[in-house]
Amino acid sequence: MSDPPSYEELSANFSWSIAEQELGHQPGDPINIGWMCSDRICRMGLANKLALHWEDYQGNEKQFTFDDLRVLSNTIAHFLSELGIRPGERVCLFMDRVPELYIGFLGVLKMGGVVQPLFSAFGDESLFVRLQDANTSAIVTQKKHVHKVRKIREHLPNLRYIILVDAGESPLQQSEVSFPMDQARRIEDFAVYPTTAESPSVLHYTSGTTGQPKGAQHVHYSVISQYLTAKWVLDLRPDDVYWCNADPGWVTGTSYGIIGPWSNGITQVVFDSGFNAERWYEFIEKHRVTVWYSAPTAIRLLMKEGTEIVQRHDLSSLRHLASVGEPLNAEAVVWSQKVFGTPFHDTFWQTETGCIVITNLPGMPVKPGSMGKAFPGITATVLHPKTYEAVNQTGIAGLIALRPGWPSQIRGYWNNEAGFKAKFKNGWYLCGDRASIDADGYFWFMGRDDDVINTGGHLVGPFEIESALLEHHAVAESAAVAKPDPVNMEVVKAFVTLKRGYDPSGDLELEIMNHIRKRLSPLAMPQEIEFVDCLPKTRSGKIVRRILRCKEFHEPVGDLSTIMDD
Ligand code: WT7
Repeated sequence: MSDPPSYEELSANFSWSIAEQELGHQPGDPINIGWMCSDRICRMGLANKLALHWEDYQGNEKQFTFDDLRVLSNTIAHFLSELGIRPGERVCLFMDRVPELYIGFLGVLKMGGVVQPLFSAFGDESLFVRLQDANTSAIVTQKKHVHKVRKIREHLPNLRYIILVDAGESPLQQSEVSFPMDQARRIEDFAVYPTTAESPSVLHYTSGTTGQPKGAQHVHYSVISQYLTAKWVLDLRPDDVYWCNADPGWVTGTSYGIIGPWSNGITQVVFDSGFNAERWYEFIEKHRVTVWYSAPTAIRLLMKEGTEIVQRHDLSSLRHLASVGEPLNAEAVVWSQKVFGTPFHDTFWQTETGCIVITNLPGMPVKPGSMGKAFPGITATVLHPKTYEAVNQTGIAGLIALRPGWPSQIRGYWNNEAGFKAKFKNGWYLCGDRASIDADGYFWFMGRDDDVINTGGHLVGPFEIESALLEHHAVAESAAVAKPDPVNMEVVKAFVTLKRGYDPSGDLELEIMNHIRKRLSPLAMPQEIEFVDCLPKTRSGKIVRRILRCKEFHEPVGDLSTIMDD
């Protein structure tokens, strides 16, 4: 197999028009991600190629060719249109990693709808704030999750349809409809809605420090970036069997769990199951996975299981490994090189960037612990945190900043122009992270520049957790901060003051933890609650999370005078 091209070769004369040409897109013409990932691949003569081999924890399996993707996404698009869902309306997908989620994603896009994928482990409160904010018209879900939708249904007057993909004979309530994808009449031809480059495509909710999560608005043109980064960074080749661990409730699971591989016509395998080292290695062995996109938390869990379990499996099919979501520690890179014969390649990006922006390309020497260099076509630097001027000095920390204008950058936050504007300074887009750059242009991640908690690669916003904590009858005030964790990098820790008449106890701690798990999600659940008499505040009364966080990380709190003055 030929060696991948060097960074210099890929960077020379780079233009995103390379992707436009390869995808056959002429500027100004309609462009539709659903069509790009199915009809176009069939037209290339790959209709009978396997697109998706799906498996769940119980061992159920299903296979779909690119022609199945085409026809079944037509079928879903047709069904939604017949229900009266119009282009531009938001359709939420709230499902486990079942085939209906992946194919439904293409179907919504084909009828011009905006897909709003939500993580199926979300509780009713997390679901509610996102459906209300997006003014969502329809939600596609499963029997096991519908109770959460039913609970909030009456507070969502604009939610016209709840679509169940596995209702079977179970009774439906008002405005619920059944759509069993496999049994529906297959629609061979569907007039794909002629979305254009700037038409909204996917709305992903992401957490910030303040306020409820923000809806990151992507457009159909994003496929230009997702196609090329998937091909170059993940090193996708025609005979690959690609496995992405991410759930499409998060951006990795859509950009590189749907759009990236399928716009490249690549076969992917999906395992609808949580972490289990033995099962994961069996899965790789059975499907002869060649390219694997995973996350540091999973890699650290695999490291804990040791190398003996690796040796019991034939993992020789693996050719390229990549990782995203949190800092990939140098030990994990060295370990993977040793046990898999190839290192995990770190990739840095975020919901807002839509595609990988800083990375170790396959043809680049990997420096363990570094995120790599800016993807060709992306201008990245680090800025001084006060002046927002480029630091221009190797090894000095600054704010990671990108020159706006690459194809998959979000076009805004839903209904939140001010929040979007605040992400730009001095003509740069700020990621909200800190890093330094070395003499070779490699980025070294240092940490986030805000109070957002990154647990196992998932961002959770302190505000959401604190709002849900305050709903609990015993809680007077609260602050949610990150606490270091050897596997998940960070977990949520909550500091709580109690209302008069309540005393701290282990039972109360468990009760509050459970309240958060059910209302928000297992990710947002504090792993520890510390009951305190008071919380550190500014003079104007704002809780200062930074002080609590620094204590958790045993870091110096630094100068507090400006904070206290607020
Ligand atoms: C935040 C974005 C984009 C994929 C999944 C998360 C952190 C992401 C890395 C990395 C260190 C990373 C950053 C970033 N992050 N990749 N390789 N090294 N940190 O998307 O939920 O929008 O989170 O995840 O803090 O800003 P997201």
